[in-house]
Amino acid sequence: TATVKTAKDGVLTMATNATFPPYESYEGNDIVGIDADIAKAIADKLGLKLEIQDMEFNSIITAVQSGKADLGLAGMTVTDERKQSVDFTDSYATGIQSVIVKEGSSIKSIDDLKGKKIGVQLATTGDIYAKDDFGEENVEEYNKGADAVMALTSGKIDAVIIDNQPAKAFVKTTDGLQILDTDYVQEDYAAAIQKGNTDLLNAVNGALKELKEDGTIQKILDKYIK
Ligand code: ARG
Repeated sequence: TATVKTAKDGVLTMATNATFPPYESYEGNDIVGIDADIAKAIADKLGLKLEIQDMEFNSIITAVQSGKADLGLAGMTVTDERKQSVDFTDSYATGIQSVIVKEGSSIKSIDDLKGKKIGVQLATTGDIYAKDDFGEENVEEYNKGADAVMALTSGKIDAVIIDNQPAKAFVKTTDGLQILDTDYVQEDYAAAIQKGNTDLLNAVNGALKELKEDGTIQKILDKYIK
């Protein structure tokens, strides 16, 4: 018996982009990761079933805005610009935009990226910052972070800017890459909720608070982040 109204009766619908380990990725046909586990824990608290909809990263906000999805949960960074379109819950994790280069690259610091070709996932904060700081003409947008990493490996681009945890996951599974020591930008991750839907926002924040206090969130983070 759910107390909060959702897009589909009895169901919490989560919009995500499952190309972003360890937050969300495919294991066989299942979407697994930190966000999937957290959404499941929130749904349990609210007496709802969880349904995950996988889509392009830049469709998540629209899905939430239109009410097709209840929750955008995708390692999504809270930004002022996104706040014009959606509300954000309390933050459940932090991220750091990081720079991946080839081992032995001449790029050793953020400054060295000037004039270099930088790959990013389309519409992510890495995309936005890279264009702002290094010029649109130097930024190559890919649908998936993994595609940017492949382009780096094959020498089409010189660096990838992406969140630190997926960066670690990609570097681990790809030979010849390294992450720069210097952090680029620090961020807070939160769930996006339809603007003005305070019932749902309060319900999810209430669930998140309990899950933080009883250690569940930390346990989920520790399970995926080694
Ligand atoms: N944190 C970055 C952002 O909010 C990247 C998130 C990408 N997430 C994903 N599931 N592909 O823009």
